[in-house]
Amino acid sequence: MNAVGRLHHLEDLEPSTEEFRQSVVAGLSTRQKTLPCKFFYDVEGSRLFDQICDLPEYYPTRTECGILEDKAGEIAAALGPQARIVELGSGAGIKIRLLLAALDRPAAYVPVDISREHMVAAATDLSRTFPDLRITPVCADYTKPFALPAVPGITPRVTSGFFPGSTIGNLTPTEAVSFLGRMRRLLGPDSAMVIGVDMPKERSVLEAAYDDAAGVTAAFNLNLLHRINRELGADFEIAGFAHRAYWNEEQSRIEMHLVSLARQTVRVGDRQFAFDADETIHTENSYKYSIEDFRALAVRAGYRPDEVWTDRQALFSVHLLRATEPA
Ligand code: AVJ
Repeated sequence: MNAVGRLHHLEDLEPSTEEFRQSVVAGLSTRQKTLPCKFFYDVEGSRLFDQICDLPEYYPTRTECGILEDKAGEIAAALGPQARIVELGSGAGIKIRLLLAALDRPAAYVPVDISREHMVAAATDLSRTFPDLRITPVCADYTKPFALPAVPGITPRVTSGFFPGSTIGNLTPTEAVSFLGRMRRLLGPDSAMVIGVDMPKERSVLEAAYDDAAGVTAAFNLNLLHRINRELGADFEIAGFAHRAYWNEEQSRIEMHLVSLARQTVRVGDRQFAFDADETIHTENSYKYSIEDFRALAVRAGYRPDEVWTDRQALFSVHLLRATEPA
């Protein structure tokens, strides 16, 4: 089957402009204003995020790729032959290549991503490297219910989630438990999960990673306001806001905010939102877990923590979890 044929199962659940508008209005209507971080990733935001991943200060991507390069053989051996891999938020598809290359005759690859164009381009590319692999993309917001596509004639020996990048850190610990529980039920009773988790470390290292010298993370954060202007006809004055990122040690998370530099009013469609000087919009949390804390969280989600791999400096971890409870 050719690449296009292989992609014909594509399911399309890309969020609508209307959902975006409702989320923005709801988020700007609360006392601590918030905007959901999933909306960072329009075309420009995805481009900026790819740039973040190459920054000298942003250690997670390069560290996790190093772990995957070193340990792909062990991860593949633990998963066994003919695995079906379901990747949650597939992005550029670099990490999955490291895993797929090591796996013994993988049965299928199911990328699940909110951004349809990005995902289809990456899947098409991947099909050139792995011409025998069944690729069945699902365009969906994986924080909401979705179904795995049926692939006639394929019976995987094991299904494993693949959730790299410490994206789990965007959720609160309570949300992370329910999310992992939902994934376990989606993937099935004998499934596994390979998940990348960033770890707590020195404040200076963490804060530099989210407030880089070149200002790429600032542009990434501020792009959310550009996007709201572009797609919702809002009138945010971008120069009236500044990027702020800090380590909240108590909660073990990086917080990103957009700070209003003056008292001002912003219009979104037919709604007006007032900002005080120094008032912030909380745009992202990025929780960091020690190995012990993450394993305990996985247990609460019905997983048995199996192996865990880290880099030499213990900056980042990759966990293998096994489903224990019946779906
Ligand atoms: C993609 C959510 C893992 O939290 O490190 C990077 C996003 N935000 N720089 C992270 C992000 C600012 C990233 N995740």
